[in-house]
Amino acid sequence: MTGQDQWSAVDSYIADLFFPSDPALEAALASSAAAGLPAISVSPAQGKLLHLLARIQGARRILELGTLGGYSTIWLARGLPADGRLISLEVNPKHAEVAHANLVRAGLTGVVEIRLGPALDTLSQLVNEGSAPFDLIFIDADKQGYADYLQWSLKLSRQGTLIIADNVVRKGAVADPESKDENVHGIRKFNEVLAAEKRVTTTVIQTVGSKGYDGLALILVTENP
Ligand code: SAH
Ligand code: DHB
Ligand code: MG
Repeated sequence: MTGQDQWSAVDSYIADLFFPSDPALEAALASSAAAGLPAISVSPAQGKLLHLLARIQGARRILELGTLGGYSTIWLARGLPADGRLISLEVNPKHAEVAHANLVRAGLTGVVEIRLGPALDTLSQLVNEGSAPFDLIFIDADKQGYADYLQWSLKLSRQGTLIIADNVVRKGAVADPESKDENVHGIRKFNEVLAAEKRVTTTVIQTVGSKGYDGLALILVTENP
């Protein structure tokens, strides 16, 4: 067994060992599928990674761009202390509605606020509101927007904020300068802006698993923006 079948088998093996059956997370995936949402949430192992990073970071305020059905939201929110808060930005009302029901089931409605609208609008609102800096920001909305989302994320960061960006490898297509895929183009622009950004230090980890071959950028804000 090689390739995708093997990555999925090993992801199942890891999930069976380390992530016991979890009704709220399973219901989040099942209700998202039943509502016809695309199956593009993070994998269980990636969700647990986000959760661990939130805890390692001691995050009390988390910002997420791209809620979908709230699967990654639940993993991240569960990494917060009792008085922690997560704001998740979503443009699609149907996605937000499915996510809200999933957050109710997970008992997280007092912790998570979903803000409906284009992320760019909501990000500028958050800045205008004088929103306190976030400790962790997870960028996972439309890939064409990533370069702009980085700039807004920096405005909402402090020295020590951890920014995580999903889907930055795209089956390896990100290394192809000739790619005609708009998503790949958006990610390449993001990576170039990120590489030139002096206020952060970054790595990209390539990942394989049940969600195929992709990658996560881990970005530490090293100056007070
Ligand atoms: N974080 C989720 C997956 C998000 S999928 C998880 O891992 O479980 C990407 C989401 O971003 C979709 O729900 C899509 O509707 C939303 N999105 C796309 N463009 C957006 C925009 N401009 N503003 C806010 N959300 C957007
Ligand atoms: C896509 C978006 C995602 O956030 C993801 O994790 C996988 C795929 C997409 O738009 O294709
Ligand atoms: Mg993603």
